[in-house]
Amino acid sequence: LSHLTSMEDLSVDEVMALITRAISFKNNTVQMPEWSQTFVSNLFFENSTRTHHSFHIAERKLGLEVLEFDAQKSSISKGETLFDTVLTLCALGVKVAVIRSKEEKYYQKLVDSPHITCAIVNAGDGSGQHPSQCLLDLMTIYEEFGHFDQLNIAISGDLSHSRVAKSNMVILKKLGATLYFTGPKAWHTHEFDSYGQFVQLDDVLEFLDVAMFLRVQHERMGADENENFSKSDYHKRYGLTTKRSALMKPEAIIMHPAPVNRDVELADALVVSPKSRIVAQMTNGVYMRMAILEAILKQ
Ligand code: CP
Repeated sequence: LSHLTSMEDLSVDEVMALITRAISFKNNTVQMPEWSQTFVSNLFFENSTRTHHSFHIAERKLGLEVLEFDAQKSSISKGETLFDTVLTLCALGVKVAVIRSKEEKYYQKLVDSPHITCAIVNAGDGSGQHPSQCLLDLMTIYEEFGHFDQLNIAISGDLSHSRVAKSNMVILKKLGATLYFTGPKAWHTHEFDSYGQFVQLDDVLEFLDVAMFLRVQHERMGADENENFSKSDYHKRYGLTTKRSALMKPEAIIMHPAPVNRDVELADALVVSPKSRIVAQMTNGVYMRMAILEAILKQ
């Protein structure tokens, strides 16, 4: 891999190789690569707990030198652009820049420039793509079922704002899964049409293998939309209530990229429950991010 910016750029073979490698890291069955004196930098311009810290841990486990970039203490605060910031880090010797930004496709200008010599790993671009989250989701599904072909998977909730939905739909379709989208109709756009059917959760729940819920992204909603939002109404109409969860197949699993709005997307009691793989997703994040960084650095 030269960069990881969008799931659209990865082939099925590349995805399967990353999953296999991440599982080997998790099972501790590989000789750990060591990249001492190899610098990576994490630049997060949107808040993060899981992605940021799991990249940091993955980097440390691989023996990399980690530069945490604090935008407020950097020359960004003097008006320096992201491009000039990354240009600077490359000139200093950074090999990989892991970047999260509010701006969709912020990475395009960077990967297209011959002057940017470091690899770019997209840790989330607005409502665009979240490839490392998608890959850890795939790893979690693969660990559970051992394949993707003909799995019935629903992606549910705040589709229009979700970079997780957009990354997952692209690759899950390529991998042979059958996708359904559920949630408020207003949050479903034509962008999703070629990947799966829009349905009511109650119409598919009983035959789903994976019910993947998305966080309602209040920070990307307008004041009016936030004012008119009722948590209990959303939960009743679109969320996974405990009553609904009882209708799922015994072997079906519940996923959510987190953070979870408890009692909105999922009933509080379901977040850590036998069907939930939310904790496994977070744990797998470290191993998948190790596999991603290794694939880029061994180029
Ligand atoms: N799932 C996810 O991206 O979480 P963070 O925003 O905490 O990184």
